[in-house]
Amino acid sequence: MISDKDNGQVLVAYATKGGVTEEYSSIVAGILIANGFQVEQVDLRRNKRPEISDHDIVILGTGVRMGRVYGRGKKLLGQEALKNKKLVIFLSSGIAIEDPEQARQKFLLPLIEKYGLQPLDYRAFPGRMPEPGGNKDKKKDTSDPEMVKKWAKDLVEKLK
Ligand SMILES: Cc1cc2nc3c(=O)[nH]c(=O)nc-3n(C[C@H](O)[C@H](O)[C@H](O)COP(=O)(O)O)c2cc1C
Repeated sequence: MISDKDNGQVLVAYATKGGVTEEYSSIVAGILIANGFQVEQVDLRRNKRPEISDHDIVILGTGVRMGRVYGRGKKLLGQEALKNKKLVIFLSSGIAIEDPEQARQKFLLPLIEKYGLQPLDYRAFPGRMPEPGGNKDKKKDTSDPEMVKKWAKDLVEKLK
């Protein structure tokens, strides 16, 4: 996806299992493109090790299950090449439905410390939880695209 104004090259990479992080990534990518950024959006299931060196800015989105941030997301955060980039991380999580700050501290902060990262921003957004006792595939839609949209608009200024 290429825009004509060119505010910089952005990689939006995402690790998803249930689709929420993918939806959030598309929102972020769309808003950046609308603001003149050149964006490459990558599903880490299809491309496990995207080329980071081609980009000035890396935005990683990942989900979490069973207390573990998705391995493909963690793997990208562990890449040495990330250290020279502007980095933004976001998470979609069940805990963030009630308490985004708790999810941010619990899941993202330990990774940031472990890999010695200095992200411009890192956030947790509400994901979807399976219905208790119900069909595993039936999940109440607790996701909040509007919250992500608002955040992505604020992000534009930070990334310029
Ligand atoms: C089997 C399963 C386990 C989960 N475990 C957690 C968890 O430990 N902590 C949490 O905050 N959310 C948990 N969730 C909620 C997910 O983080 C949520 O579904 C999120 O949307 C996942 O992102 P994705 O849709 O991009 O895969 C779990 C969801 C499922 C289906």
